[in-house]
Amino acid sequence: MNLSIASQQRLALLAQESGKRVLLPCPLNQRTFDFSSNDYLCLSQRGDILEAGHECAKQYGAGATGSRLLSGNLDCFEALEAQIAQFKNAEAALVFSSGYQANASGLAALLDKSLWGSTEPLVFTDRLNHASLHHACQLAGVKQIRFRHNDMTHLAELLSKHIESTQPKIIVSETVFGMEGDLLPIEQLAEIALQHKAVVYLDEAHATGVWGPEGRGLGAIQHPAIDSLKAMGHWVIMGTFSKAVGVSGAYIACSEIFKQYLVNRCTGFVYSTAPSPFVIGAVSKALEIIPGLNKERAMLHQAAETLRQQVHDIGFDTGLSNTHIVPLVVGSNTACLELKSHLQQAGIRTSAVRPPTVPPNAARVRLALNTGHAPAVYEQLLHALANWKVVA
Ligand SMILES: Cc1ncc(COP(=O)(O)O)c(C=O)c1O
Repeated sequence: MNLSIASQQRLALLAQESGKRVLLPCPLNQRTFDFSSNDYLCLSQRGDILEAGHECAKQYGAGATGSRLLSGNLDCFEALEAQIAQFKNAEAALVFSSGYQANASGLAALLDKSLWGSTEPLVFTDRLNHASLHHACQLAGVKQIRFRHNDMTHLAELLSKHIESTQPKIIVSETVFGMEGDLLPIEQLAEIALQHKAVVYLDEAHATGVWGPEGRGLGAIQHPAIDSLKAMGHWVIMGTFSKAVGVSGAYIACSEIFKQYLVNRCTGFVYSTAPSPFVIGAVSKALEIIPGLNKERAMLHQAAETLRQQVHDIGFDTGLSNTHIVPLVVGSNTACLELKSHLQQAGIRTSAVRPPTVPPNAARVRLALNTGHAPAVYEQLLHALANWKVVA
């Protein structure tokens, strides 16, 4: 069959199943009313961060010219990794060009049975984990043992079923769920993991910069079980620079020895050109700034709390949200697209999130709050939402 015809037929089916996705322009001058961006701390436009990116690019070049194992290991990478390790209270860190790449290849390397003396690990995953975490499991060829979303009792039950097994156990979760907007009960998870001597792999994409002590992520909190897992080298934290950090790229913070393993065996690191020095300079500056933004974080969390109450009053369901990500769960794909379009007409940009990204019949308009949203923006949003309820 011809590729164009095959693509056309597949797209027609996708359009029927969940609606075809199209690329729309995102004009910069409409950012004020934008609830679709993950620039939670509005750092992507900050002058000192842009400047630091330019300075680093001027010194090292626009591109890294090769994989870190070939020509690309500029000293700015090593400096940033030391900074991240300190930021995350970890022994070491490794930088990647994107969060998807870090998960797909970094987690796959952790799950690779050759790491575990040819024994396939038992992998316990939250049902609502991000696509990149699923992709890693597929790449490693492991079967996922899925626990109900954020249900630590279920996780403990599943682990107990395998208590006699000598297979390594690995638990994989996000710390702030990007589509639900809820927090992982991290202390409980750490206690359960410690009991079973499991390795923990956490994705802090939506937590980095916004949650945890000084925005260092939930994985940076002090807790005896976390300290013990760290001492065992069983605490592996991934996070991105593409969301609250305002740039792009990602890190894995872990033990020094696991970092050395990744340098040797993680395909997304070995066989990929290192990130641009512009990114490294900008990220380094952003990580310097983030711990000082406690006031901004408190305002963001308060704004989310207030918005949740207000939209509940109008009759919207915000699901499990208890963070700066507030989904308006409307159920059907049609209602979701209608609400997004209604808000767009009122000048407010949002994301329509539909299955398979979220569970069936749980389509939602996702509101991602940021520190640049002024009270007038929330008023305009609430007004538009109230109007939609009247019409719907
Ligand atoms: C939970 C989670 N992990 C990983 C990623 C991928 O990160 P990046 O956009 O930097 O590739 C995302 C991005 O949407 C995400 O939401």
